[in-house]
Amino acid sequence: MAAMTSWKPLRWTLAVAAGVMAALVLFAGGPSGLAQDAKSKGPMDKVFPASAKCKRCHERVFEEWETSPLSRSIHSPVFRAALDAYLTSGSSRDKVLCLRCHAPHVNEYPDQGPAFIAQAKSGDPAIDGVGCAQCHLIKQVDRSNIQPSPRYETGGKTLFGPYKDFVQNLAHQSIELPLFRKSDLCLNCHLAVPNAANLGKSNDLLGGWEASKAVKSGKECQTCHMPEQVGESANGENKRKVANHSFPGRIGKLRQEAAKLEIATTVKGDQTTVKVTVRSMVPHNLPTTHPGWARVVLDLNIQGKNLKTVYSEQRVYGRTYADAKGQTTVFDFEAAKVLENTVLKPEETRVETFTFPTPKDTKTFDVEAALSYAPVSGPPAFLQRIEAESSQGTQDPAFQSIPITRQTVNIPVTPGG
Ligand code: HEC
Ligand code: HEC
Ligand code: HEC
Ligand code: HEC
Ligand code: HEC
Repeated sequence: MAAMTSWKPLRWTLAVAAGVMAALVLFAGGPSGLAQDAKSKGPMDKVFPASAKCKRCHERVFEEWETSPLSRSIHSPVFRAALDAYLTSGSSRDKVLCLRCHAPHVNEYPDQGPAFIAQAKSGDPAIDGVGCAQCHLIKQVDRSNIQPSPRYETGGKTLFGPYKDFVQNLAHQSIELPLFRKSDLCLNCHLAVPNAANLGKSNDLLGGWEASKAVKSGKECQTCHMPEQVGESANGENKRKVANHSFPGRIGKLRQEAAKLEIATTVKGDQTTVKVTVRSMVPHNLPTTHPGWARVVLDLNIQGKNLKTVYSEQRVYGRTYADAKGQTTVFDFEAAKVLENTVLKPEETRVETFTFPTPKDTKTFDVEAALSYAPVSGPPAFLQRIEAESSQGTQDPAFQSIPITRQTVNIPVTPGG
């Protein structure tokens, strides 16, 4: 190991002591209940160390990641129910399709597919889904296909990351890879999801994001979803620019930057017209359209006398699919055709017009427009399955909508106006 000589004596001793201990455990196996494939690349636990092993030195990163959806990519009741729906559908030729992104080390250990599925189905998996090593061992991303694929470095003790000037440690070697500051790393799993009829470009998740103003001005996925902050990268090291690993998306403050709503109301006698301008500031589709039921909805509510709702209407942004038999389906893995596509395109401004009877017996009324992520939807059996899989039953977060933004205005009713 190089560059040790520049370390201060005290830190040197501590770091070596910590490092030697960590070096013994980091890339060495631990029990997970999975058979080991020692033939080509060594046991899985050794090649893809559990994220918990990084915590001892990267506490901040670990704690952020732990709160992120990524740390639960094979844990959620809705994922288990969807996995089950996939495995029992006619379209499950590739049994581990769902794990290819949700627990991507399966790609390196193809003969352990059944064990991965069993782990995911257990509801309390002993393996990581998208853990630390599942990203930091990616050496290259091949984008020659609509479905990009990662190249993992599985031979050594090297982890790839954003720093050129990293501090040495004894648990792993570090190599700077510009890929870690680029969207390409994320596109691996976020660009397209395979489906029944290979819908190709018409089923990409992000839309024409590369032409967006944000991307043209140099923003990568990380700029917004791994915001820069200042802190310790490894415990006790000097503060520096680090990247937030809580991956803000549906969870977190980033949501507030998704869209702006403007309301324009015209009262004309008995009839009122409201125009809601939805200005998406997201440089890709909103929502991204996997899973297939992903929807953002705009709710218009008119409150008249005593704030009683006198009128409501909804607009839905998402995709509707048909399966091979022409039936509509919420499962993208069954999709053979896109029937309707109303997603908000990158940075799109859409004007929605609503017309309704002017509220009576009141001097004013409220116009409220609210944008939110819709809860999961689908066939009753699927929803019941989620309920059964969840310890929270009907209170499972999948059944709650997630507010994005709202706007309210009070409108006077001018008599005869
Ligand atoms: C190995 C595959 C993989 C890679 C690489 C990956 N992701 Fe993800 N990502 C996922 C999966 C799977 C989920 C869904 C987790 C869940 O909720 O079950 C997810 C969820 C997310 C979410 C949360 C979405 C939401 O609805 O709130 C964000 C944000 C995100 N990823 C951003 C990124 C960024 C930024 C990168 C690149 C630095 C990246 N991801 C790289 C697989 C990946
Ligand atoms: C190409 C990579 C990829 C494949 C293949 C894939 N997913 Fe996902 N999945 C993702 C990403 C990325 C997200 C986060 C999406 C977002 O929030 O926009 C996600 C999110 C989800 C979610 C919502 C989050 C959660 O955990 O509750 C479910 C459910 C899900 N996927 C189920 C499946 C199922 C079932 C399959 C197999 C039929 C599958 N996925 C195949 C990448 C993938
Ligand atoms: C013995 C302590 C220790 C353990 C255990 C450890 N790391 Fe590190 N790691 C460090 C130190 C120290 C740095 C340098 C931090 C700095 O330069 O500020 C570092 C740097 C990194 C970097 C940045 C490398 C670069 O060039 O950009 C990544 C990525 C990383 N570690 C990932 C991991 C992952 C993933 C694990 C678990 C599999 C892990 N580390 C376990 C001590 C450790
Ligand atoms: C979805 C992919 C992904 C996952 C999962 C992930 N990282 Fe990272 N990590 C990145 C990317 C991308 C960067 C560089 C971000 C940048 O500089 O813009 C990074 C940066 C880092 C760094 C250097 C910057 C910093 O914030 O300290 C360390 C150390 C690190 N990761 C460790 C970890 C550890 C430990 C885990 C698990 C607890 C983990 N990462 C999980 C993608 C990931
Ligand atoms: C300019 C900032 C910005 C950039 C760059 C950006 N996003 Fe987003 N992204 C957002 C905002 C804002 C939202 C919507 C609010 C939210 O969910 O937090 C969002 C939402 C998401 C979601 C969750 C929403 C859903 O419908 O499930 C995922 C997943 C995601 N982005 C992935 C990516 C990926 C992958 C990239 C890179 C190709 C990227 N984003 C680039 C700002 C950005």
